[in-house]
Amino acid sequence: MAAPSLYLLLLCSLACLVPSSRSRTLFLPLAKDPSTLRYVATVYHGPSLDPVDRAVDLGGPSLWLDCSASSSPSAVRPVPCRSIQCLAATSDASGLRRACASGASAVCGVRPESGAAGEAAARGGVLAEVAVAVDSVDGSGERSVAAVDRFLISCARGPPGYGATGVRGTLGLGRSRISLPSQVATAFGVRRRFFACLSASEGVIVAGDGPFFPRVDGDISRSLTYTPLATAKSARSSDYLINLTSIKIDGKRLSLDSSSPPHSIKLSTAIPYTAVASPIYPAFGEAFAGAASAMGMARVPPVAPFGVCFDPRTVAATGAGPDVPAIDLVLQSEMVRWRIGGSNSMVRASDEATCLGVVDGGDGLGSTVVLGGHQLEDVLLEFDFGGSRLGFGPPLSARRLACSDLRSEFNSMAFPSL
Ligand SMILES: *[C@@H]1O[C@H](CO)[C@@H](O)[C@H](O)[C@H]1NC(C)=O
Repeated sequence: MAAPSLYLLLLCSLACLVPSSRSRTLFLPLAKDPSTLRYVATVYHGPSLDPVDRAVDLGGPSLWLDCSASSSPSAVRPVPCRSIQCLAATSDASGLRRACASGASAVCGVRPESGAAGEAAARGGVLAEVAVAVDSVDGSGERSVAAVDRFLISCARGPPGYGATGVRGTLGLGRSRISLPSQVATAFGVRRRFFACLSASEGVIVAGDGPFFPRVDGDISRSLTYTPLATAKSARSSDYLINLTSIKIDGKRLSLDSSSPPHSIKLSTAIPYTAVASPIYPAFGEAFAGAASAMGMARVPPVAPFGVCFDPRTVAATGAGPDVPAIDLVLQSEMVRWRIGGSNSMVRASDEATCLGVVDGGDGLGSTVVLGGHQLEDVLLEFDFGGSRLGFGPPLSARRLACSDLRSEFNSMAFPSL
């Protein structure tokens, strides 16, 4: 087979779609499942736009659906292995060979991925096409459903591994050509990026042309700090990773010597609390406890899963959360830091304990820090995978805001056409 012509066709299938002339903003409200603490989104499938609840997997490469229990299997069309779509899903020639391992006439096989999506697809699956739709709003504020007719999904042959009731698959938002934001950007001719704001109970994903949050603080999406996205061989290639130079607690640099560089931070929606790699965690916890004790915070016995806890009566409160030592993740230079402030660092574990909401991630973490859950709450994030950079804002609580303020930009719009 002539590979170059296949690549040309692929380029055309990505770029030759006619983009909408009107500006368009797509959004996806998220709920948080209280039992699994996972974010869940509803996307619409098939010609009749059946709602399907999916667990959000931030770095996931694709949309996994449990096809064994699909209510409308006829609407899901398996993709042959010698096809442009199969090449797009596998990204290179060796991936394509693996996808076609069961013979040239077979359908495009997709392998279980490491991480959350892998659990969902322990038995592997096939690539398939189905119509998928999400909510959108155009430049004049009119709300409608934006449909992609030939959306590529990974069809698992078994039920997904998530405990959340009613969840029938995962929603990958990762750096791959078949993640939701990637296929939506291609179909609607919008930039390859999305904004995410996650809170303790809900969230919102927004993509498209913008303006995004014009009524919130002069459009808060314009005041983010950026850091380049990194790639690591040890991780899923679709994961969002950034390089970490050092960690500072209350302005003091923590030694990372006990674990070898390069140091990286992975962003994840699969965990409720940020995890720090085992070799560093003890020094991290003790540095925080030392700075906290200098502020008059009294330590109490830890409450699992946390390692460092304090007497709540000794923790001062401010309008932007507990007044505790600042944790700075120093990124590409000393000037660029991700600051984890009080409202993101502390968790009220019991009446007697307020704990540092960061856990020991063990030895097999893959990254130095997996930033997730509580530490990503009420922070505006921009996943600009087209521009290979990540944008992050200061904690919204510092401006007396929350993700619900960003989400309500869309709630207040009329929804005439569904
Ligand atoms: C991240 O660090 C690795 C190892 O030091 C380096 O090779 C890579 O270029 C860095 N990536 C970015 C985006 O800075």
